[in-house]
Amino acid sequence: MIVPLLDLKAQYASLKEELDRAVIRVAESQYFILGPEVTALERAMEEYLGVKHALGVSSGTDALLLALMGLGVEEGDEVIVPTFSFFATAGTVTRLGAKPVFVDIDPLSYNIDPASIERAITPRTKAIIPVHLYGQSAAMAPIMELAASRGIAVVEDAAQAIGVRYSDGRRVGAIGTVGCFSFFPSKNLGAFGDAGLVTTNDSELYERMRIMRVHGGERRYYHSVIGGNFRLDELQAAVLNVKLPHLDGWSERRRQNAARYDELFMEYGLSEGPGRAGFDERNRVLTPAAIHEASGVADHHIFNQYVIRSERRDELKTWLTERAIGNEIYYPVPFHMQECFRDLGYTEGAFPAAEKASAEVLALPVYPELTPEQIEYVVSSIAEFHGVGSPARKDAALHS
Ligand SMILES: Cc1ncc(COP(=O)(O)O)c(C=O)c1O
Repeated sequence: MIVPLLDLKAQYASLKEELDRAVIRVAESQYFILGPEVTALERAMEEYLGVKHALGVSSGTDALLLALMGLGVEEGDEVIVPTFSFFATAGTVTRLGAKPVFVDIDPLSYNIDPASIERAITPRTKAIIPVHLYGQSAAMAPIMELAASRGIAVVEDAAQAIGVRYSDGRRVGAIGTVGCFSFFPSKNLGAFGDAGLVTTNDSELYERMRIMRVHGGERRYYHSVIGGNFRLDELQAAVLNVKLPHLDGWSERRRQNAARYDELFMEYGLSEGPGRAGFDERNRVLTPAAIHEASGVADHHIFNQYVIRSERRDELKTWLTERAIGNEIYYPVPFHMQECFRDLGYTEGAFPAAEKASAEVLALPVYPELTPEQIEYVVSSIAEFHGVGSPARKDAALHS
């Protein structure tokens, strides 16, 4: 059996007619950039996310860059960033000449540790970027409270978390000063290429970002500020307009797949389940349910990634790859240990939770179209790796 990490062809097949029609509609219109499809997407996103303004942009990376530019982040400023995320979260800060100040993650949610943020704030701190990693919200309440008390902006990196509701019911991206989304094809809502979105409830900031999206020129060839080419094209917006109504259903299917994994890992005796987040003979695989329950922040999750932890992660990765089971490490090297950030002076051991996570995490296939048989195959292969038999054999052994 082959179990890819993601099967985009299956999703395409389910919406083929509508998607093909949307692509042809754009081709026939010959209207390619920032047209009616983009405007329709922006209004639909405002409604869906419960936010005042949404602005379609060229990618999730550009969403972060534009948000930071809109906030006026520049040389001499500091931006607090979790050391464990996709590169764009930190890279965009450096590209503006500002300094990313790394902090550790909470070991159980993988998201930025609010207590560490406070210690990292200096008079130069301009913004904090909480990342809603893997599809679970960061602890926004303490972050927003801290930021408000110090007059610091909060840029939510919601690239992996579209649709997630924080515990107060609001959707992520509508809570901070700015929200940033990616529609890279592997995201829960994926375009046919690169695309992204910024959101804000601040109308002045929205206006600045709207102008910066097109090189800082409200009137063509007259530039009031320096911006960039952050435009979203019509083809991507048309595809996203077709897919958006299906997003919550797909995320629900991902949640069901995750729950089935959790159950099977328990049935196979590899995980003791919710609340048990330490490794031992009965817990050779730490599941998201076990980890998140122990963290006390277990609530809404859209499972952009289903990530387990293993003390023998690298061997397990090879084992699964040999059995045609897609898997990936998000992320193998925290920012503070990346070569490009060497000059910032961080050393190994600075952020133990992130370093441990980067050595243990492994993402398994969780896409909506995954079948029960494929999930069973993934878990039984992991059980085999650990020398554990089928659940029936395990029960028989227990009763013998
Ligand atoms: C957490 C995070 N931030 C930012 C990005 C950047 O998005 P994009 O790939 O659309 O530029 C991604 C996407 O990969 C991401 O996962």
